[in-house]
Order: sequence, then structure tokens, then C-alpha cells
Amino acid sequence: MVIFLKRTDTLDKYVIRGGRQLHGEVDISGAKNAAVAIIPAALMVKGVCRLENIPEISDTDKLLQILSRMGARVSYLGKNAVELDCTSVHMSDDIYDMTRTIRASYYLIGSMLGRFGEAKSTMPGGCNFGVRPIDQHIKGMVALGAEMDTGGGFITAKAKGGRLRGCKIFLDKVSVGATINVMLAATLAEGRTVIENVAREPHIVDLANFLNSMGADIRGAGTDVIKIRGVDSLHGGAYTLIPDQIEAGTYMAAVTATGGEIILNNVIPKHLECISAKLTEMGAEVEEYGDRVLVRRTQPLRHTNLKTRPYPGFPTDMQPQLSTVLCLADGVSVVTEGIWDNRYKYVNELRKMGAEIQVDGKTAIIEGPVQLRGAPVAACDLRAGAAMLIAGLVAEGETTIEDVIYIERGYQDFVGKLQRLGADVRVVSVPDEPCPAVPDVG
Ligand code: EPZ
Repeated sequence: MVIFLKRTDTLDKYVIRGGRQLHGEVDISGAKNAAVAIIPAALMVKGVCRLENIPEISDTDKLLQILSRMGARVSYLGKNAVELDCTSVHMSDDIYDMTRTIRASYYLIGSMLGRFGEAKSTMPGGCNFGVRPIDQHIKGMVALGAEMDTGGGFITAKAKGGRLRGCKIFLDKVSVGATINVMLAATLAEGRTVIENVAREPHIVDLANFLNSMGADIRGAGTDVIKIRGVDSLHGGAYTLIPDQIEAGTYMAAVTATGGEIILNNVIPKHLECISAKLTEMGAEVEEYGDRVLVRRTQPLRHTNLKTRPYPGFPTDMQPQLSTVLCLADGVSVVTEGIWDNRYKYVNELRKMGAEIQVDGKTAIIEGPVQLRGAPVAACDLRAGAAMLIAGLVAEGETTIEDVIYIERGYQDFVGKLQRLGADVRVVSVPDEPCPAVPDVG
């Protein structure tokens, strides 16, 4: 069952003609990284959840399909709203073809343990930034009383005695995923759990708010200590997800690159503070109006330095986009990737367009200004793909971007939203020709 996933029998690419400024308004969609945690969390709810502001992207569509294969009744209500009834869900071996393609599938381990006292899923997929261990997820589950096995490409777990038991956990690393997964597992555990050294991202707070609105007892999300009093069950209800901090930041970076003036609707300015501050350093003007933000850039771009850190620091998921803008700035900029081992694959694609970037380990030295030139490039991962779009918007001539399936994992209607802001960008669908059948040779 497809909820809102596009046809997958075409290999789309984006074609952009650069040189236009952006003007107008853009509506920011719900937060992807909140949705991919809240949908698995709904598995623990014995009742009906109505979720509003769900982004219509392939990652959320896949998770909704996974829950459907586990017996959930999934109804797409239109306008970014879905209804999930997980009253009669069950374990299923029919989900692995999808769980291995997305990172957030490992959240099913925490929610399955909470709901069933056992769990089985594949090792997660997701963007390739080098090694992406899950040792902190395992540490938390084991501390809660789960027997874990990660052999053969699968993660299996079983709660000793049939139900997890609360405890105190100190995470060795600030990890969004481990924080979320352990929070999920502890929600229905017996007794109290205290998790220290947790991540503080907005989507962690959103998940805690969703769970509490369904009857959980979670305190401290958004600080570095989360305290959970386990409950016996969760009831249904309605919840509206927060807007996407990174989608908003991407459009802010785009207009800073092209010049012009745009208004972003449906944002939480507090979540954008670090991005707004950095873009202002570079010559943009950012004005906040309640749940809207105006971004204007009329001055020449200035170089700056940036280092990615856990929230509320500068988000790693904005690093490729900002590095692209820095190619256009006057002077030398230093970018340090503080979270991932190898998040510079997109640099090779930018170099095809004339970028002057040297990468040494986790540091990129960017020399500007350069006039980027359109070229055929590929999206190496989700945010790298967004960076290619920004590059294409400012490049001379035509840029084509392949492997846009990565972009469509995390951005709802990216091309349509850019077109409405005045960009010359279009989708070209190339039929995904099936390999000709090899004739039998008898
Ligand atoms: C989440 O990934 C996001 N994905 C990523 O966004 C984001 O880049 C990342 O958080 C950091 O903000 C989702 O939310 C689905 P981590 P996650 O666990 O949870 C190390 C996007 O573009 N670590 O916070 O996988 C890890 O190697 C995506 O939307 C361990 O060592 O990230 C990394 O160095 C890309 N052991 C650091 O912690 C563990 O058990 C932070 O990783 C877990 C993580």
C-alpha cells in the first residue's frame, strides 16, 4: 500500500538554469526527523493516533507502510494528516525490504520492545557518512534488561521477563538516535529511567511531547537529562508535528546564495537561531515575525568559519548547504564537521561546477568567490542533494542533478516550492528501463 510515495519506476533528475534571485513565500513542512521517530512511536499506542503536519516524503511513507504491514490501519487524510490505528499490531517478517533502506527503522526496536517485549528489524540504512555505529542504542537497551543480538544483518531483542525495567543510563556520546531509541524503550518499561548526556534536538522534544500526549510520563526532553516514569499503556489522541528546522534552513541558505527576499511560513524561529546567526554573519538579513521568518540578501556575501555541533550548535544537516554558499563568498572560509567522519562527498560534485574546496579529514577550506558553472552532478545523500540544488540555482548555465531519490527522502515538493519562489527548475523523468530479459539458451 502506497500512502503518498511517488511512482518508483522512473529515474527522475532535476534540471536547473541558474542566475535567478528567489522571491516570494514558502510553506515549511513538518519535521522529517520528528516524523521518523513519532511514526514508530505510534506502534506503542493501543488506539487511534491522528498525526498532523506529517511531511509527505519517502522516509515517512516507508515507515507508514511498515506499520501497515505490522497490522496497523493507516489512513491518509490528505493535507499532511494521517490516522494510525495500532490497536491490533503484531510482529512481522514482511518489513525487512523496507527497514534496511532507511536509518530511522532502528526506532522500531525501541517501540517493538515497549509494545511486544521483543523486537526484530534489519540493521538500518540511511545516508553514508562513514561509520554510523549503534553501540549506544545497544547499551541503553541492555541496561533496560533486553538481550540483544546484532548478527546476520539483523537486530533482535528480547526483554528478560517479558518487560523492560527502568534504570539509570549515561550515554557515552551525544546521539540523537540513541536518545530517541532509549526513550521509546523506557516509555512502557516498569519503573523509572534516567538517561544522562542525551541529545537536545527539537525533534527529541517533539517526540517526548507526542508520547506524553498519549499518556507517557517523560520529563526533561531538550535538556541533557531525560527522566521517564514507565506506564502500562498509551492511549490514542491527536498531535501536530513541529516544522522542519533543516528544510527551513535550506531555503534560507538558498536565498542567501541567489540574493532576493523570501518569507518562510510555519517555522519556529528559536529552532533556527544558529542558522540565522551564521547567515547574518555572511551578509543576509533575517527578520522574525512569530511563526514566520523573512530572509533577504542584497549585500555581497562575506566569508566565515563554522563548526557543526549537537543542538543548539550549528546543525550538521546544514553543513553541505552552507559550504555551497561559502563558495560564493569573498575570502577563505573554514568548515569543520564535528559530528560525522565523512560528510564531504558532495565536494567532488561541487568541484565539477568550479568550486575551490580542499578537504582534509573533517575540515574543508573554501576559497571564494567563484562563479559556479552548470554541470551534470549527482546527489550523494539527502543534504548533499540539497546543496547541489543551491549550487544549480546560482551556476551559470544548466545543471542536471541525478539520484534525486535521495533528496525526495527528506524534502516535500522541493522543486514545486523552488518554482513558486521563481527558480527555473524542473523534473525530468527517465523511465527506469528494466534490464532486457536474457533469452534462454536452452
Ligand atoms: C540523526 O542521525 C539524524 N537522522 C541525522 O540527520 C543527523 O545528521 C544526526 O542525527 C545528527 O544530528 C535522523 O534523525 C533520522 P547521532 P543519527 O546518533 O541519530 C555517533 C538528515 O540529513 N554515534 O546523533 O544517526 C555517530 O557516529 C540526517 O536528516 C555513536 O558513536 O545521529 C555520530 O558521530 C542525516 N554510537 C554521532 O554519534 C551510537 O550508538 C551523532 O550521531 C550512535 C551514534
